[in-house]
Amino acid sequence: MEKLIIDTDPGVDDAQAILMAAAHPNATIAAILAVGGNVGLEHTLRNALTLVEVVEQEIPVYAGCSKPLVIFQEDAADVHGQDGLGDVGLAPQTRTAESEHAALALVRMANESPGEYTLVAIGPLTNIAVALTLDPTLPEKLKRFVVMGGAVTAHGNTSNVSAEFNIFYDPEAAHVVFEAWEAHGGLIELVDWEATIRHGIPGDVIERWHALDTPKSRFYQKMSAKTLEFIRNIMGRSMMFGADPLAMAVALEPDIVTKAEVRHVSVELTGMYTRGQTTTDWNQRNGRTANTNIILELDTDRFFSLMEQGLK
Ligand code: BDR
Ligand code: CA
Repeated sequence: MEKLIIDTDPGVDDAQAILMAAAHPNATIAAILAVGGNVGLEHTLRNALTLVEVVEQEIPVYAGCSKPLVIFQEDAADVHGQDGLGDVGLAPQTRTAESEHAALALVRMANESPGEYTLVAIGPLTNIAVALTLDPTLPEKLKRFVVMGGAVTAHGNTSNVSAEFNIFYDPEAAHVVFEAWEAHGGLIELVDWEATIRHGIPGDVIERWHALDTPKSRFYQKMSAKTLEFIRNIMGRSMMFGADPLAMAVALEPDIVTKAEVRHVSVELTGMYTRGQTTTDWNQRNGRTANTNIILELDTDRFFSLMEQGLK
């Protein structure tokens, strides 16, 4: 059984990852930590609360950091909608957030139950960096740490072309996190943007999900329509990219991974063109301790089935 703490900036693909986790028979969601990212925290927090209502589970939701540690560069409202869930008026009916800050909640939970929780970070790493500042021993107290972020051969998805969104949104936070895992000798399980592209979701799979016609599949269809249109305009066909569900699939079923490489990854902070790039020591030259298990391939059919299960 995986006990998950999900740090997230919902976000259409975050939402799908949460639906997937909530439906999985061998997982429980112990907490959702909201962070600013795709859109502002007021939206991501509200969306997290909407999602716990949709999955009809008693999951505590904590508000975290509203801004990157140092400087705001860009959000992803053009992909996810101004409200983060496709601008179709989704809102929670009754749920409210806990009063504790997300970073404090993470430190508290990890210390109450060392080695029990798998932390899945599918947004910028701001909350995690703050938690690490409060408790540098955090890496020792987690069972696993799965991150969606980065572009390990610099094929990014932001205006700073070699950087991926979650890392580029808050490079300083990502730097703190990758260095902390290196210092601890632990491995971040990293699902990057390039793996996301390699595991794109074809139009016929999406149509199959729509045809389920359940409350969750109707919710999915509604919130993702704008993103589908955004991607169709770029790719010239109907398809989706499931960055956060891909990371969640790895968290839920680690044996879904068919190819991975352990390497040292650092985060570029100062490059004129490369700020936010995840610099990967592919040839093992820098002599530093590997801090990342880079997920390269996983079983695509199993991945699609896990997502479908979340919509039933
Ligand atoms: C990541 O950025 C966000 O827009 C998505 O939710 C995902 O976490 C992909 O680069
Ligand atoms: Ca996200």
